Amino acid sequence: MSLTAVILAAGQGSRMNSDLPKVLHPLAGVPMIAHALAAAAGAGAGRIIVVAGHGIESVRAAVARLEPEAVVVEQAEQRGTGHAVAQALPALPEGPGDVLVLYGDTPFVGAETIAAMEEARARHPLVVLGFEPADPARYGRLVTEGADLRAIVEWRDATAAERAIGLCNSGVMRADADLIRRLVPKIGNANSAGEFYLTDLVALARAEGLAPGFVLCPEAETLGINTRAELAAAEAAFQTRARAAAMEDGVTLTQPETVVLALDTVIGRDAVIGGHVVFGPGVTIESGAEILPFCHLEGCHVAAGARVGPFARLRPGAELGGDVHVGNFVEIKNTILDEGAKVGHLSYLGDAHVGEGTNIGAGTISCNYDGVAKHRTEIGAGVFVGSNTILVAPVRVGDGAVTAAGSVITEDVPAGALALGRARQVTKPGLGARLMQALRAAALSRGAR
Ligand code: UD1
Ligand code: MG
Repeated sequence: MSLTAVILAAGQGSRMNSDLPKVLHPLAGVPMIAHALAAAAGAGAGRIIVVAGHGIESVRAAVARLEPEAVVVEQAEQRGTGHAVAQALPALPEGPGDVLVLYGDTPFVGAETIAAMEEARARHPLVVLGFEPADPARYGRLVTEGADLRAIVEWRDATAAERAIGLCNSGVMRADADLIRRLVPKIGNANSAGEFYLTDLVALARAEGLAPGFVLCPEAETLGINTRAELAAAEAAFQTRARAAAMEDGVTLTQPETVVLALDTVIGRDAVIGGHVVFGPGVTIESGAEILPFCHLEGCHVAAGARVGPFARLRPGAELGGDVHVGNFVEIKNTILDEGAKVGHLSYLGDAHVGEGTNIGAGTISCNYDGVAKHRTEIGAGVFVGSNTILVAPVRVGDGAVTAAGSVITEDVPAGALALGRARQVTKPGLGARLMQALRAAALSRGAR
């Protein structure tokens, strides 16, 4: 079955009071629209069409990053949901299939719900996703009869009797592609808002003798985001669910309410995550790894048995092998640490490779950036990098080499060598005590004056 997802994301989101298009506001570590894109991809959509308007250039750039195959079409003027879907028609693939309409600002429609809609499609050419909100407010109302959907009435056009209906339209629908191609162009705007309502498809389908249907989902899945307060509430709801899911999957969260997860965070069974750990996008933690409190991780991989933190920062491209230890106040970026490597304290490693079992002393810095370009630091296996070593990249340190504490390493160090790059120590016997005496005497005589 060929499925096309159409994601409506042209609205301005003016209640966000923001220069950033609403669907690009971060939610669970990713732009809000990433949730709908993931739902579409998860539903098996072979083509994804995003209808954008406000801030289309930045929406286009974000979509290209998140889902490179997706097509972005423009709806220059927002004349209603029906008009928005009409803009996607030229990008619909030819031939039989289904169209799934999602909203870019409604991030939590679940995979099971989408599957239930697919299943209902066997009985109805058009399936609308409904829900029964605690407060039906101004949602469109579903007028139903048994399993059939007779009409969707927008609140502003509804009679008092229709407004009394508790069953509401989420906006999500799934229909036969041929029906969409045939009927969307017939949607008019003769309503109190003067808008082209996608919901009119129900009446148009019934006029052809077809029988639209509906399925229901929990209200939490239809949560739409219009304000910053709703964004914060959505974030909280996501985190509550994601923490529970992680624990269900066998992850220990010692202080679950303080851990921040991202949409794509993957944590293996028996991993232990301490309090106040923040996961940005693109993190995978293997089974049994331990992340101690107050770490920030993004775009990185931590293998089984590794220990990270407290207070460590893993940035994109950090790859920690098995049993690696990264300790406090350590930052790792675009660096591979092979099995058993240790970076215990106060270090920065960027654009580097550290071989198996190598020990990186406290305060080690890879100077990867010369102000213009980034350069690599290659450190072999079984190396002992002395504390406070400055590695000026590009530079290589061979297997089994040692760098003396406090060295500035500007030249390659061959395997097995000892490299010293620091000033020689000078020791003057007795001078320390005499110096302090003189200083104290000077201070006393100043006090006497
Ligand atoms: C819509 C439904 C309503 C439903 C509600 C659920 C219609 C006519 N009404 O109403 O039945 O209860 O959603 O939240 O469909 N959009 C565009 N281009 C447009 C108009 C909208 O891309 O021209 C996008 C918006 O960015 C938004 C979504 O479509 O993501 C829904 O638009 P919105 O204006 O919020 O529709 P509602 O009036 O809330
Ligand atoms: Mg709305």
